[in-house]
Order: sequence, then structure tokens, then C-alpha cells
Amino acid sequence: MLTQKDLLGLEELTADEIKLILDTAGAMREVMTREIKKVPTLRGRVVVNLFYEPSTRTRASFELAAKYLSADTVNISAGSSSVVKGEGLLDTARTVSALGADVVVLRHRAAGAAAFLSRYVHAAVINAGDGMHEHPTQALLDLYTIRECKGKVQGLTVTFVGDILHSRVARSNIWGLSKLGAAVRVCGPATLLPPGLDRLGVQVFTSVDEAVAGADVIYVLRLQRERFVQGLLPGEEEYARLYGINEKRLARASDDAIVMHPGPLNRGVEIAAEVADGSRSVITEQVANGVAVRMACLYLLARREADDKLYH
Ligand code: CP
Repeated sequence: MLTQKDLLGLEELTADEIKLILDTAGAMREVMTREIKKVPTLRGRVVVNLFYEPSTRTRASFELAAKYLSADTVNISAGSSSVVKGEGLLDTARTVSALGADVVVLRHRAAGAAAFLSRYVHAAVINAGDGMHEHPTQALLDLYTIRECKGKVQGLTVTFVGDILHSRVARSNIWGLSKLGAAVRVCGPATLLPPGLDRLGVQVFTSVDEAVAGADVIYVLRLQRERFVQGLLPGEEEYARLYGINEKRLARASDDAIVMHPGPLNRGVEIAAEVADGSRSVITEQVANGVAVRMACLYLLARREADDKLYH
């Protein structure tokens, strides 16, 4: 079982805990191939999706994951809740806790929001993205997809290209990939590379051609314009020319390299359409694997939460 009540980031997980989640996701993937995609594992449990930022993939896949496990689900978006009347995060969380939530899935613009919440609610808290900090379930589904496509993670070279500065996806992946023994390269314009990356044990490049050369996985990151302050980038056309992943650049990677992207995509900016839709792309597999990985996280945390209630 997992040692902690919550899933806040991959920084806190051991390699064995990450492998446990990936192995459990494998079992969940089998459930998803059945004609009736439903098991009674979490019957009677309540999962609350509490989203303060927009989401399509994470939110929909958590909802599906909970439903496949027979949990009851409640979806709360900040824009259509009492948050617009001024209710704070803690009061909202205490409210959903009082309504019987066993698991709270939180997406919030502030780094540390999930960790803050976890101290005040009995429910297990899953971080579904906190500002520029971590997005652990995205990294877990990425690790699952890499392991499925390549048969292993250890020894691979994984290159992240793009907006590293704003990317919670890159941060979680750096922790996870490093713990499982992959070599990580990051590449982007100097204005989109945060200081201190070398302390995380990654190789930093500003030349995309060098960063991509011989890599097993090319992970393209979205330009997060909503988090930009003025002057970070010249323009999208120039960015596409200097850093966009197109067929020509991809040809420098390993012959069997795969291409990943967390979505949503800015087609023609960070990734060319022919690459996003090409034979090396595993972007749709990432989305499908996201449901299985989130089923695994809900299962492992809700089970632990139930055991805690039973024994304490
Ligand atoms: N990858 C990801 O988090 O996508 P959404 O914002 O659509 O959930």
C-alpha cells in the first residue's frame, strides 16, 4: 500500500510506490477492456472533483475512473460554485468533507494548495495540478505509457521541449523518471527555463536539435500563455521555427522514438500537426491510460483511507 494519506506529488513517492501504482493501473486497464467497464471496488465511497482551473482530460478521466470503480462522484467547478460568492478553499473543502467525501481531487492555480488542504480534511487529497508545482497523475500516466511502449523506463533518454518554466507536468515527470532510472533532458528558450534545473539532475539544452538527438522519448510541452508575463517570448511563429517539433527535428531522435504531449495542443506552435497525428505520436494512448492510472490512484488511496477509518 501507499505510505501516505494523500497523493500530492511524485517528489514524495518512492520508486516502489510509483511502480505499485503503475502495476495497479495495468490491472485497471484490463477492467477497461471489458464490455461492462465496472467493478464494485469503491461502492459506497464518494469522490469529489474540485476544480479551480479549467480541465478536460484530468477531470473527465477522474470522473470516469471513479465511476468504473462504482464510487459516487460530485463535480465542483469554481466558476459555478459558492467560490464566486467569496468562499475560500478551506471552507469549500470542509463543506465537501462534511458531505462525506472519501477522496478530494483538487486542481488549483496556487502551488501547495493540495498540501494545504490535506492538513485539514480527513479525506485523501489527490493533487490534480497545483500552479507551476506538480501534476502527479499526469506524470504517472506518462510513465505508464512510456513503460507500455518501451517495455521499461530505466536507461531511456527522455527529452522535454518547450515551456519548462510553467510546467508542473515537467516537474512531476522529472521526479518520476529520475526515480525510475531514466536520463532526463530539458530544452527551451532561456526565458522559459527556470533556474536550478541542474540541481534536479537533468541535462539542460537551449538547442533543440542537440536535445532531441538520439532520444527515446520526445515530450513536447504546451506554451502556457495564460501564465505568461509580458516579454517571455517573441512570437508564436518564431517559437515554432526555433523550438517547434516537426518531422525534420524528429528525424534526429532514436529510430523508434515516441512523441508525447500532455494536451491541450497548440498545433503549429510547439508541435506540427503531422507529428501530433503521426505514427510516433502516443498522445491518444496517454489520454486512455490516464483513466486506468487514476483508477489505480483512487483505489489505492480510498482503500487506505477506509482501512484508517477501520483501525483508528
Ligand atoms: N493534461 C492535462 O492536465 O489536461 P487538462 O488540463 O485538459 O486536464
